Amino acid sequence: MNQAFTLVLAAPLLWVVAALTVTPAFAQDAAAGEKKAAMCIGCHGIPRYQSSFPEVYKVPLISGQNQKFIAASLAAYKKGERKHPTMRAIAGSLSDQDMADLGAFYEKHGSSSVKTVADAPAAAAPADVAALLTKGACASCHGPNFNKPIDGAYPKIAGQYADYLYAALRAYGTEGNPNVGRANPVMQAQVKQFKRAELKAIADYLERLPGDMHTVPLQRFR
Ligand code: HEC
Ligand code: HEC
Repeated sequence: MNQAFTLVLAAPLLWVVAALTVTPAFAQDAAAGEKKAAMCIGCHGIPRYQSSFPEVYKVPLISGQNQKFIAASLAAYKKGERKHPTMRAIAGSLSDQDMADLGAFYEKHGSSSVKTVADAPAAAAPADVAALLTKGACASCHGPNFNKPIDGAYPKIAGQYADYLYAALRAYGTEGNPNVGRANPVMQAQVKQFKRAELKAIADYLERLPGDMHTVPLQRFR
């Protein structure tokens, strides 16, 4: 290959490398995410749908959840850091690009048809629950109203189903179970300081808070 030819080839290549460094590695494409969501709606598109294995609780609300958190939690299932078997199987088939796209789609999913609360203040917690939330400094990460976390990689938890929240909190404290468990060190340390009844009281309070998450029912999907 002569030198002039090499230069001609190399110049656009350098430009591409420069362009890649300024754009995020996985440009999110909500429209692509919508197509990929076909394999999610059978559970996440049915209001109050119950999962049955390994435990019975409602499939979490994900429409209106943060893009970054959706992608991060899918990656955690794929890596096995979150052990839930069904979500592991599903996430195992997704690429990083798929996860980014699905996150972009679900973050905005149905937002035109629901009243969003964004940073509206949360209703005051009963004194016993307020003391638990203070002890765990939960609002310092999940936001004062639990609907606006300080970082998009942290989940919104206001208005999420209480039985799911309770199961999720218990999962951070579960060790040595092949089907139940979550490896996030921050939340693992958090839940250790609470009794189960206290985690349940927190979950029950969080469900009652206004939040941006909702289910977009299957029949209105398109
Ligand atoms: C068979 C039912 C089912 C299907 C299909 C399904 N999910 Fe899930 N999903 C669940 C259940 C149950 C959980 C809760 C798992 C746990 O306890 O960790 C969950 C959890 C999640 C979470 C974590 C939410 C949170 O608040 O931590 C995300 C994100 C998610 N699913 C996205 C998806 C996407 C995207 C798809 C399609 C590619 C999908 N799911 C398909 C049942 C399902
Ligand atoms: C230092 C920051 C921080 C603090 C403090 C914190 N959390 Fe979290 N929380 C996180 C992060 C990050 C995650 C996501 C972990 C993962 O990937 O599973 C999370 C996940 C959760 C989940 C799972 C939500 C879901 O949809 O999967 C619940 C429930 C939760 N936190 C409740 C609480 C409560 C209640 C407290 C206080 C007792 C608390 N958190 C304190 C950062 C924090």
